[in-house]
Parts: sequence; structure tokens; C-alpha cells
Amino acid sequence: MVRLEFLKQLAVLSAILKVAPALAKGITDTDISRKVFGDDFFWGVATSAYQIEGAWNIDGKGESVWDRFSSKPGHIKDKSNGNEAINFYHSYEADLELLKSLNFKNFRFSFSWARLIPDGTGSVNEKGVDFYNRLIDKCLKLGIEPWAMLYHWDLPQVLEDRGGWANRDILGWFSEFTEFCTRRYGDRVKHWMVLNEPAGFTTLGYLSGIHAPNRTGIGKFLASVHHACLCQAEGGRIIRRNVNQGHIGTTFSCSHTEPYKLKDSHQRAAQRLDVVLNRLFIEPSLGMGYPYAELPFLRKIEKYIDPGDQEKLKFDFDFIGLQNYFRVVTKPSLIPFIWANRVKPEDGAELTEMGWEVAPEGIYHIIKQFSKYPVKEIIVTENGAAFPDQLINGRIHDPQRIEFYKRYLQKILKAKNEGVNVSGYFAWTFIDNFEWAEGYRPRFGIVYNNFSTQERIIKDSGYWFRDFLK
Ligand code: BGC
Repeated sequence: MVRLEFLKQLAVLSAILKVAPALAKGITDTDISRKVFGDDFFWGVATSAYQIEGAWNIDGKGESVWDRFSSKPGHIKDKSNGNEAINFYHSYEADLELLKSLNFKNFRFSFSWARLIPDGTGSVNEKGVDFYNRLIDKCLKLGIEPWAMLYHWDLPQVLEDRGGWANRDILGWFSEFTEFCTRRYGDRVKHWMVLNEPAGFTTLGYLSGIHAPNRTGIGKFLASVHHACLCQAEGGRIIRRNVNQGHIGTTFSCSHTEPYKLKDSHQRAAQRLDVVLNRLFIEPSLGMGYPYAELPFLRKIEKYIDPGDQEKLKFDFDFIGLQNYFRVVTKPSLIPFIWANRVKPEDGAELTEMGWEVAPEGIYHIIKQFSKYPVKEIIVTENGAAFPDQLINGRIHDPQRIEFYKRYLQKILKAKNEGVNVSGYFAWTFIDNFEWAEGYRPRFGIVYNNFSTQERIIKDSGYWFRDFLK
């Protein structure tokens, strides 16, 4: 027993020691090249409809939960909204040309459900359909592969009024929407993703309520988790049926969790957070059920599970999209149900503008963790950083962002070299955009946006990618 304890502690210690030199070293000068990732590696940028499109109420678009949420005082830090965002709806052609000039060959976007089917179900808005037709055709004309995300958080408000993700009827609504998108666009779009970060929209939207639709409560949260898991698998099945040779994935937010201290209680706290942050959505899709063992309160989800659901939760995705921004150092806490909390990064830690610690080793650990599941292919579908960019003499020098990308890419390469099938990388994001409840302040783009004039200016990091991908 004592020996086991010692071995456990040793394992944690060695994990921490492995992280430490990378952190201490700071900016690396080890260069990487595109070639070492292989010629078939997918390089792209990721975006989402609400964060970029604008045109929130024109050409027949319906209202989404984010349109409603951001119109209410106190929800968005800088009192802004996505009504205009970066006006991509009107400027997509020039923006895609700009993307091509940076040598990216893959563009990830999401469909705005309320633009396509304004009432959530039923009649279709042909002007909205036409927008995505033009967008997809423009990509293909430029030699850019479109990667479509079905759902990136902007549920039609009418569906939210009927309970949204907490209502099991979402399974029918979402299936109808997926049928529609795959039939209309599946002839040209081959790369599909079902849900963007279900852990994100269920916890932030239905548990803490700091995102749309601003709902709170453990029951709503658990219901929305189960319904999202059902939709995730059903979405996969519909794509497989309708899209010839489709490449089908879904995406998960993920953060490597580490105990703050070498104590059992801290390790257990890290395991509990790991369940919510990393395991909750992938395990049911693999037929493993919900991870109750480390987090007993999750059993309450059974209330929402119907006979036959365990089978319906399964789907064999062609790829798993991992989205990583930070690691999570954990200690026990009095927060109900989870009894764990994050420890703030130490003084002097390197932070992004979101206050997130730059910890490239974390992406390596999380890729390795997910590679232990029987998944076919892993793609990093989001990774990036916000820094306080300054426009000086028409240029944005953002060396921190360049270093961020280099250091994270090195860790991804390390996992790849160790045999993990990582086949692509999407930077978050292309052009500065609407960062949800934070508004427009955090700038994640490799292209700067002047939000008064909608002028785009390539940042040094954009030029870095252009040369890297040449
Ligand atoms: C989301 C993006 C978001 C990014 C940075 C991801 O969780 O998918 O929409 O902008 O993180 O916060």
C-alpha cells in the first residue's frame, strides 16, 4: 500500500517535472517546419458563424440564442453584441482570398441554424442557403477545403423557448437540421463536424449561465449533456448516410488536469475535473457509458436516459477534434457536486489576455490521453491565443502569438512522432472576432480587425503562418 502510494506520487512528480523545464525555458528557438508534419497534414483556421458573420437580422435570418443573450444588459463585458461582428456575411470573398494568400488550404466555418431554418424546424430560408452555397463554392474555387461544423452554440431562439438542449425533442430538431445541411451541401463538403465543444455550451449555457441561453441548474445541465451526446452520435449517423465519402468528426474542449499538490485529495480533485472537462462526451460515444466512477453525482443523469439510449449514444467517428487552450491545475474545493477547483497560475506565469496560462506541454499530455481511447484520427481543431495587440504604423507585431504557435506545434509534433495519429491543426482564429461574453476585447486572430472600419490587417503571426506553410 505504502509502496503504491509512493509510486503514485512519483508518477505525479515526474509529470510535473516534465512540465517545469518547458515552462522555465520560455520562448524556444527550436524551429519547426511544415514538412516534418507530412504532406497530407491538414492546416487550417477555425471560425464560427455567430462570431464572424454579423447580418444578424437580414435576408430572412431568424433570431438565435446569442442574438437574444447579447441584447440584454450585463451579459457581454464590453456591452457589445455580434449584430455586425466582422461582417463576414458580406466580406467572405475577400476574406477567403486573404486566407489563400496566407497559404492555408482548409477553412472551418459553422452553419447558422437560424439563418437556414429561422423557426428551427420547418421552412427553409433560401437566401441563407444561398449564402453557404456561395461560401462553399468560393472556397473550392480558391482550392480551399471547407470544413463544416453543424453546431457552434447559436441555437434558434424559438427552440430555446421550447426548452433548448434541456428538452429531449432537440434530438428530432437537430436531426432535421443535420439532414437538411448534409443533403444541401454534402455534394461539395466532405469534412463534417457535429458539435463544437458540448462541454462548453452545456456548462456555460445551462449550468453557470454565463453564456447563452443563460440558464442554470444541475437538472437542466444533465439533461442537456445527455441530449447533446445523443445528437452527437445521431448527427454522425446522418452524415454517414447522406455524404458520400464524408470525413466525420466532432470536437471536444479539453484541458490536461494536474493536481496542485502531491496529495491523494488533490489527485482525486483532478480526476473529478477531468471527468467534466475531458471525458464526459467522448466516453458515451465509444460505448463506455458516462464516467460515474470518479464523479458519483453524474448518476443523476440516468433520470434522462431512456431504454435503448446506450446504443444510440455510440458512433464511430472518423476523427476526433481536440480544442485546447490551457491546462488546469486542481485542488479540492467546496463547489457542490464537483468538489474541485482550478488553482490560479502562479505569479510570474506566462498568461494570455484571457488569463490562461501558456502551457504547451498540456496539449501534448491531452493528445496522449485521448490517444488511449480507440479513436482513428485526432485533429487539433482549435488552438490559439489572445494577446493585447497594438496597431503601430499599420503593423501588428505579435511575437508572443508566434511563439505560442511554435511551442504548441512542437508539442503536437512530439505526440505525432511518438506514433499518435494527429492529422491536422486549425488555428483559432483567422480574423479577430466576437469572443462571446468577453465581447471584442480579446483578439485571437492572426489577422487584425479594425472593428470601426472592418479593415483587415495581417499580423506578424499571419505572415509567420504564410511563410511556414509556403
Ligand atoms: C470556442 C471558440 C472560442 C475559443 C476561445 C473555444 O472554446 O470554440 O468559439 O472563441 O474557444 O475562447
